[in-house]
Amino acid sequence: HELAMSVEEIEKGGYPHFMLKEIFEQPRAIADCLRGRLDVENHSIQLGGLVDVLDKLVNAKRLVIAACGTSWHSGLLGEYLFEHLAKLPVEVEYASEFRYREALIDEDDVMLVVSQSGETADTLAALRTAKERGALTLGICNVVGSTIARDTDAGVYTHAGPEIGVASTKAFTTQVSVLAMMAILLGQKRGVLEKEYAARLIEELDRIPGKVEQILENSESIEEMAKLFTYAPNFLYLGRTYNFPVALEGALKLKEISYIHAEGYPAAEMKHGPIALIDEMMPVVVIAATDHTNDKMISNIEEVKARKGRIIAITGEDNEEVMDLAEFNCPIPETEDCLSPLLTSIPLQLLSYYIAVNRGCNVDQPRNLAKSVTVE
Ligand code: G6P
Repeated sequence: HELAMSVEEIEKGGYPHFMLKEIFEQPRAIADCLRGRLDVENHSIQLGGLVDVLDKLVNAKRLVIAACGTSWHSGLLGEYLFEHLAKLPVEVEYASEFRYREALIDEDDVMLVVSQSGETADTLAALRTAKERGALTLGICNVVGSTIARDTDAGVYTHAGPEIGVASTKAFTTQVSVLAMMAILLGQKRGVLEKEYAARLIEELDRIPGKVEQILENSESIEEMAKLFTYAPNFLYLGRTYNFPVALEGALKLKEISYIHAEGYPAAEMKHGPIALIDEMMPVVVIAATDHTNDKMISNIEEVKARKGRIIAITGEDNEEVMDLAEFNCPIPETEDCLSPLLTSIPLQLLSYYIAVNRGCNVDQPRNLAKSVTVE
């Protein structure tokens, strides 16, 4: 037993929890994910695992993405990325729903399943359903040689390295990195992505690990802020477009490890319900990091403030307008709108981590949760 403990200590590499280690590993994990795939000089992307199926993917009528949990949030971002960059219609499905309703899928469709473990029962079942109906099946997995990785026709590994903490962190950001690369590649192959824009995105993807590092260097300010919100009973997370899935993921992280009730919402939907909950006890995390929705997010912040909600803003470091309005700020380096989730998700991981630690929760193994759900 003592030996097992010491092995675990070694594996944690000096961090108190696997989750914190994995959060801090993200610059390296994302760099590993991009390595050999992103050709910055030639502004091109190579995904070896997709070479054999690329033609079929390029000509697909529709892409269906199925996943569970955090991987479903990546999938939702995948929809935004594929539609924006590759002009490919996408549907995102909870794997469990897809498998039990009469989902329409056939040989003209491509099914993409996203799974860190590659073993999630519902995701595997959704994959098998799609396969039976003749769809091309692709996977984005972290665990090499996992069932989903083996059962799909083709796929891309995230190369994040083992993720031990039940709450997913580096698996998420590397899944999003893969989805961004796939969407850019597909946009180029389908001839719908402007050359300069593709070049800008590829160069910017290459800078993401460094920018994540910059955010992590500022983790102490988030640790300080977390102290003020440790006993908040509820949290609301708001985002628009690319940062709506981030709002969902931020809320999930907090629920999972700190047991605080939290909801993620598309910012505009706030007025259709959640606004009724806002009072001086309600921290509202606003993810305002996409230029084209900035004015809209500012109006949402004002609506929350008018009801005395407490604003925590995740925003670009040059966005003074938002920073002036917010009570607390987590500035992030400027980036392309569609890549911003790779940065905005980091402060949210840290916030949930520090709150959970303050509350004395078992961060790496939260109650009732499993790292991979291999039974229904
Ligand atoms: C469990 C884990 C989550 C994970 C989900 C999907 O619920 O606790 O962190 O996002 O399963 O897992 P997968 O391995 O398919 O990504």
